Amino acid sequence: MRDLGLTGKRVLVTGAAGGLGRAFAEGFANAGACVIASDLNAHGAQETAAIIAEAGQEAHSAKVDVTCAESCSALATTVQDRLGGVDILINNAAVYAGLERQAFEEIDESVWDKVMAVNVKGVWQMSRALTPLMRQAGSGAIINVASATVFSGSPQWMHYVASKGAVIAMTRSMARELGDVPIRTNVLAPGFTLTEASLNLIEDAENYGVTRGALKRAATAEDMVGGALYLASDLAGFVTGQTLVVDGGRQFI
Ligand SMILES: NC(=O)c1ccc[n+]([C@@H]2O[C@H](COP(=O)([O-])OP(=O)(O)OC[C@H]3O[C@@H](n4cnc5c(N)ncnc54)[C@H](O)[C@@H]3O)[C@@H](O)[C@H]2O)c1
Repeated sequence: MRDLGLTGKRVLVTGAAGGLGRAFAEGFANAGACVIASDLNAHGAQETAAIIAEAGQEAHSAKVDVTCAESCSALATTVQDRLGGVDILINNAAVYAGLERQAFEEIDESVWDKVMAVNVKGVWQMSRALTPLMRQAGSGAIINVASATVFSGSPQWMHYVASKGAVIAMTRSMARELGDVPIRTNVLAPGFTLTEASLNLIEDAENYGVTRGALKRAATAEDMVGGALYLASDLAGFVTGQTLVVDGGRQFI
């Protein structure tokens, strides 16, 4: 098989305290990359780095609040000082766990603002903190984690759907603005995936969606890793501004 070209690449994953973020961190470490697991939940990020280190791979952890410009630039400085730069950014942090489903007329303004601050502004803040390092290196790849829910327009979920729609739109602008470096910027859009967060959000999560997709089983966090590895790798060297839906064939876009 062709080498993915990820050996020794420095990968920063946000929202890496558990769930998909931890799976991305472990998946990239297994592909030979050096991982920086970051999260608002510093303890969870440390745990992720420790799991990877125990498996004999290189990993670091850092606390970050993606909604805060100072926190994002402090992380960029840490990464520059510790590792000399970054090659791949996975913007995975989001308000997802604990988000209540509500009719759009009922959504509290403070909840709306929080979802937008983390899911939309956070992607912008983190990306603009790290692109100077990628520009300096002359290349980079950014993967923004959206959601396949954008294409189904899930009801009682408008704040979340809107935020992930914005992530797809922002990715296209970023791809055009960063293409000359080149920094490739793509979206991974998972369908419903079993993580601690989703298990707590949806009743009967194990069976949710099983019959609705072309592939008749529930997705695990590990199912999302291959798509991220592909988008970050040399195999996707001419792919930018795209959205890769990984949902077992529930929606075709
Ligand atoms: N699980 C699913 O079914 C599913 C489906 C589609 C998309 N997604 C997306 O995948 C990603 C991960 O989902 P998950 O299931 O692992 O959920 P999760 O809630 O466990 O992961 C989100 C992580 O983001 C972190 N975070 C929240 N606010 C932050 C902030 N201000 N700064 C830094 N980190 C912050 C949380 O601490 C958490 O670790 C999210 O972007 C989610 O929207 C999940």
